[in-house]
Amino acid sequence: MSNPRQSAHPIDPLFTNRWSPRAFAEETIAEPALMSLLEAARWAPSAYNVQPWRFIYARRDTPAWQPIFDSLVEFNQMWTKRAAALVVVVSQREALFPGRAEAAPNQWHSFDAGAAWASLAFQATLSGWSAHAMAGFDAEKLRAAIQLPQGYAIETVVAVGRKGDPAVLPDGVRKLEAPSDRRALAETAAEGVFRQ
Ligand SMILES: Cc1cc2nc3c(=O)[nH]c(=O)nc-3n(C[C@H](O)[C@H](O)[C@H](O)COP(=O)(O)O)c2cc1C
Repeated sequence: MSNPRQSAHPIDPLFTNRWSPRAFAEETIAEPALMSLLEAARWAPSAYNVQPWRFIYARRDTPAWQPIFDSLVEFNQMWTKRAAALVVVVSQREALFPGRAEAAPNQWHSFDAGAAWASLAFQATLSGWSAHAMAGFDAEKLRAAIQLPQGYAIETVVAVGRKGDPAVLPDGVRKLEAPSDRRALAETAAEGVFRQ
């Protein structure tokens, strides 16, 4: 599919080529290929370099898949069943900051996990895969499924897969299967002070 996204200023095509499909081909992903995506995420920047993120992954057709898949809402299950992997991004709420003797709340844990997810998604695009983040899951079910200890927040579940034929999707979802647009930069960025 050609990409209708137009950038208003010069940027690398990587940024407009990344988008979140729901039509995945049923291709599986080899563990090393998935590790490349997680490796990119590992190199994300974080406050004080505490790296609050952790990734719990499951490849389809492995025992780890079903418990994570079962925690997704029905809508997300409908299209992720063809994904190659699910990656749960979690982050530690507290950190041991440099020079401190005890862990303290890390107010940037989610912000930094977001940077890690974005790195994963861009590496997926570069590697010919696609990544689609999801907030639609049952948090309690997922927490139990991945045996998440106290002190960690679940940020998102990311579906990774090879883009497939939109014909596999139900009508209503198929028409969403295209790169979306963005608010204008002038409505997003302002010099000096916030503008409504
Ligand atoms: C944190 C987060 C949660 C999301 N949750 C869902 C979800 O549960 N189901 C879904 O189909 N898409 C979900 N999305 C995908 C967004 O709708 C999508 O990223 C957004 O519309 C922008 O489109 P693009 O990623 O194709 O550029 C989520 C994205 C993010 C970043």
